Amino acid sequence: MTQLDHIPGVPSASSPRCRPKMTTNIKPAHDPVTVTDGYRFHLRTPSSSYVFHETYGDLMADHWGSLLTSPYAIEEPDSEPPGWMTIQRRREFPTLGSGDFRTPALVLAAHDGCESYSFAFDGHKVHRGKPSLPGMPCTFGKEGDVTTLEVRMKDTANNVVVRLFYAVWHGHDVVSRWMEIENRGEKEITVKKASQGTDLPNEEWELAYTYGNWAGERRVHRKPVGHGMQGGARADDSFQSLAGYTSHLFGQEYLLLPPSTTETSGPAWGFAHIYSGSFEAQIERDFNGHVRCLSGINPQHLAYPLPAGSSFTTPELVLAYSPSGGVGQLSRNLHRFWKQHLLNQDWVHRPRPTLVNNWEATYFDLDEKKLLPIAERGAELGIQLFVLDDGWFGRKYPRTSDKQGLGDWVVNKERFPHGLDEFGRKVTSLALGSTDGCHKTKEHMQFGLWVEPEMVSRRSALYEEHPEWVLRAPRTEPTETRHQLVLDLGQRAVQDYIISSISALLDSAPVSYVKWDNNRGMHELPRPSAMHDYQLGLYRVLHTLTSRYPKVLWEGCASGGGRLDLALSAYFSQHWTSDNTDALDRIAIQFGSSLFSPPSLMGAHVSVVPNHQTSRTTPFEFRAHVALMAGSFGFELDVTKLPKEDAKQVPQFVAMARELNGLVLKGDWYRLNNPWESNWPAGMFMSQDGKEGVVFWFQVRDHTRGDVAPPLKLQGLDPKLEYKLDGKKYAGSDLVYIGISIREHGDYRSRVMRLERL
Ligand code: DGJ
Repeated sequence: MTQLDHIPGVPSASSPRCRPKMTTNIKPAHDPVTVTDGYRFHLRTPSSSYVFHETYGDLMADHWGSLLTSPYAIEEPDSEPPGWMTIQRRREFPTLGSGDFRTPALVLAAHDGCESYSFAFDGHKVHRGKPSLPGMPCTFGKEGDVTTLEVRMKDTANNVVVRLFYAVWHGHDVVSRWMEIENRGEKEITVKKASQGTDLPNEEWELAYTYGNWAGERRVHRKPVGHGMQGGARADDSFQSLAGYTSHLFGQEYLLLPPSTTETSGPAWGFAHIYSGSFEAQIERDFNGHVRCLSGINPQHLAYPLPAGSSFTTPELVLAYSPSGGVGQLSRNLHRFWKQHLLNQDWVHRPRPTLVNNWEATYFDLDEKKLLPIAERGAELGIQLFVLDDGWFGRKYPRTSDKQGLGDWVVNKERFPHGLDEFGRKVTSLALGSTDGCHKTKEHMQFGLWVEPEMVSRRSALYEEHPEWVLRAPRTEPTETRHQLVLDLGQRAVQDYIISSISALLDSAPVSYVKWDNNRGMHELPRPSAMHDYQLGLYRVLHTLTSRYPKVLWEGCASGGGRLDLALSAYFSQHWTSDNTDALDRIAIQFGSSLFSPPSLMGAHVSVVPNHQTSRTTPFEFRAHVALMAGSFGFELDVTKLPKEDAKQVPQFVAMARELNGLVLKGDWYRLNNPWESNWPAGMFMSQDGKEGVVFWFQVRDHTRGDVAPPLKLQGLDPKLEYKLDGKKYAGSDLVYIGISIREHGDYRSRVMRLERL
């Protein structure tokens, strides 16, 4: 049996995401890591086992799925050496040049360009707790929460050591992995690919992942896994990012499912890559039917130089297994896991202020005179935060359109003659109206600000001073998107500039919320490794700023939900889910995003009709009900121009948002009817103690003369108990097995119903 080591320095108390206040010391029912005879590894979470073994120096994947009662690996030691056999096997650490012939996880190039390496098992260690990953966002836990297995693989000829880490979570069905590559040789080598995953058995599998576009994020696609490569740079329908950020095109996460698994039943396997840059996911079925699943930094954007004596660490990959309860249960398991072990513990459960953002109200046509009335009216209606979006900054090149000004984070004195501080003070001196709209309360409005610090406009003082700070390829001019260029955050000077300019801004005005935008991808790179250096630079900047300003609520945005990924969720406690504020489209975007990200991470706003993106007209109530399903509820319109009957409802929705916010932030999310399958999308939040919940139901098209809405069956209830739904008493079994009938007349109808356990 193996001795347990303590990993020093974990978790780091200085990191906002590494303050595990909510974690508990969980006494696992089984040994999280059992190593038998020094070569069989059995990792156990509460309901799952992950098993592999060493043979002839190589690692073989045996099982990842339901909990095995025996502590031993199921396979007998292999009787034949590698060679022809390698391609027949399920490998745990597939390298190039070993006769495997499937896509490798690791590709290194020696100083002479040779990519054939020969790694062999070189021992293991078991540690209490889990180390943090150098310079990267990662999951955290106390010694009692997690045990880490470290397996060493060594190429003696080239003197390279790879450490494979497996963090085994005691209270979650999660094994999270990363690897560290150490060049102990005398010459520089290059990391060309460093992905991770596992080989699944020859069974029927379906692959589910999300794809999308600007204003159409996170559509869910599911398809059978056939022979060959299902995703990756070479496949027609690959899912990857070459944009230098996660992007709208694909999410960094996916599921492997047996065809019989539904939203509510069956097992599910989840893969979530904690990274925000270019990534590649590859799912390959070989002639044996084995399915290799790999996730990692996109090799097109890697080629990372590793000088003698240095190490490279990959991002963390979270592997989650749910034995039953379908896709919904896997989502809920992951949501709980992120909340306890990834998200910023200072904010994860802290109530989010309701807000009014001026973007769709004014776009770039703004100044203090136009904005103050919006803030004043917002405060009167009880809205807690006013957010000043794009267009408030720039002196030499005022940001009056998207053509100029990015990089110059100083207020535009023509638009705000008394400065940002003074404007902020005017906003924060506004007392909020009561929820009945009858009197003023003692609470004051808060002030929030939009920034896009990773970018620069050619027409800016910053670009004039530092053209060398821009990402560009040698010998060519960088191309523009939205008239802007990307700063090279791999450069320390650029990181320092962003840290100091944003700190100066936050010190200069009473700002309690920052919306951090990012509106284009990377085109030209000076070298492939620049993309990953950028991410490390971005993590340093965000770590510094979020630790320095822990009371500020940091929201991420990338032309909507282009960076709603798990890496940035360690810093941004909420994200702008989409630039599409049309309530109907938003249902699908929010449900799709919730496959991996909890709704508590999402921001959703009520905007005007006809909607600016789709021209669709939906009732005010429908728009508000959709927005109430997110952690951050707000308005994105000119509240001074609201029709009277809508304005009257604002205080009521603000009150509802405040009342429901705790449930949305802390509760479990059930997708009752998915919008891509039903005319009656519905979802519910249930508190973790099962005492209260809230149900959201929508009718897209009126079906009075067609099919009627099927009964709405609730989830997450105890069928043996009694509940009150919207004040009416029900047996839990009736709500779960029979469901309630809802009849509404008209398109775009909605209901929000409170649930209480009796
Ligand atoms: C893109 C964002 O998604 C919008 O909400 C808005 O902030 C604009 N950028 C401002 O330029």
